[in-house]
Amino acid sequence: MPVMLAICQRSFDVTWSAASFEAEFLKEHTEIYVYVKDKQLVAYLIIWAMQSEGEVVSLAVNKGFRNQGIASELLAYIFRIHGNIREWYLEVATDNILAINLYEKYKFHKMRVIKNYYGQNKDALQMKCQNI
Ligand SMILES: CC(C)(COP(=O)(O)OP(=O)(O)OC[C@H]1O[C@@H](n2cnc3c(N)ncnc32)[C@H](O)[C@@H]1OP(=O)(O)O)[C@@H](O)C(=O)NCCC(=O)NCCS
Repeated sequence: MPVMLAICQRSFDVTWSAASFEAEFLKEHTEIYVYVKDKQLVAYLIIWAMQSEGEVVSLAVNKGFRNQGIASELLAYIFRIHGNIREWYLEVATDNILAINLYEKYKFHKMRVIKNYYGQNKDALQMKCQNI
């Protein structure tokens, strides 16, 4: 977990605390995937998987390992193993163009803007995809 926390802190302006990660580990529907390269944990993906609905909760690839298809591989993997989940949701900062590009590549589309989701004047875009 310390490595995930460090990647998170390097990746986001509004970052999770150690307590948020711990709380996530205890939730019934949470699944946590990590990507290991050369014996190093270099990326993580946290999802909530319910019966017919899923949520991409957090995704980050450590600097130095980006643009190598790692986030794509993680997303493709969870869509494949959760073929039963029809609808996926996520929230992403409206100014995080790289991530929005990534999610659009995986057929997420923009649903609505949630004002101040990440704090004062930090809006989120809610996106949805149908896994068919
Ligand atoms: C967003 C993030 C997860 C992408 O991870 P990644 O492993 O570099 O992504 P991939 O190499 O799989 O790239 C997948 C797609 O993302 C988009 N993308 C990634 N890097 C990009 C860049 N520098 N410029 C433009 N688009 C980019 C592209 O659509 C790319 O597809 P393509 O290679 O076919 O053009 C990574 O940049 C990151 O950890 N950022 C900080 C944390 C974050 O923003 N997380 C997501 C918010 S919920």
